Amino acid sequence: MSVHSKKGPVSVTAVRRLKGERPIVTLTCYTTPMAKQLDPHVDILLVGDSLGMVLYGMDSTLGVTLDMMIAHGRAVVRGAEHACVIVDMPFASYQEGPDQAFRNCARVMAETGCAGVKLEGGEVMAETAAFLTERGIPVMGHVGLTPQSVHQLGGFKVQGRDLSGAEQIMRDAHAIAEAGAFSLVIESTVASLAKSVTKALPIPTIGIGASVDCDGQVLVTEDLLGLFNDFTPRFVKRYANLGQMVSEAASAYAEDVVARRFPGPEHSFEG
Ligand code: KIV
Repeated sequence: MSVHSKKGPVSVTAVRRLKGERPIVTLTCYTTPMAKQLDPHVDILLVGDSLGMVLYGMDSTLGVTLDMMIAHGRAVVRGAEHACVIVDMPFASYQEGPDQAFRNCARVMAETGCAGVKLEGGEVMAETAAFLTERGIPVMGHVGLTPQSVHQLGGFKVQGRDLSGAEQIMRDAHAIAEAGAFSLVIESTVASLAKSVTKALPIPTIGIGASVDCDGQVLVTEDLLGLFNDFTPRFVKRYANLGQMVSEAASAYAEDVVARRFPGPEHSFEG
């Protein structure tokens, strides 16, 4: 079923208007062929810096570079006809301050053709987010578990379990919304907090491990497809087991090659 009612790409303003209308469907995406498959079914394709772990086998997202995000962002934009493509800003490409952030975000927007960028961080990133939105760069925020701060947070842990943590996430969410962000990812927080944040904000929240009460949901596509098995967080629902299908197909191919069953006459050329 397609979620798109009109021709042309979904804009960030259209995403924002979906709050209160219907849940916003988001998936991560890193390549052109995957973008072509996902595009008819989603509102947003997020070129997440999770690609460092999912595609490149890194232990965290910290080693992802701006050039990697630009290359994958461009690939996804090429494959997306309708979805709103948002590109993650990688670690150390925006945290120095508004000038550095503007320079690098502008590069991402110009070189990929994406509709907006995503930045991790709350109150501390609000000045930068405002600087960007006032200068024409649409910003998606990201609060709760922010993977680029995994060392500071002591691991990939659920955030906002205690009162002071929950109050901080609420302040973070308000600060990013007031800075002009068009939407906000909330990752790995307790459900009641995600619900309160969603109720309090004028912009849509997109949850990952943050409950059904968010205005939309996002998952890492390879998690949903069973293509990334290094670890599976509790919040992932697996809709397919493509990893097993890939393994079975490779095994069948290997057997055919060894038994000289492949290539057959139909795959070969006669002089
Ligand atoms: O990097 C990423 O894929 C993300 C989503 C999981 C929200 O930030």
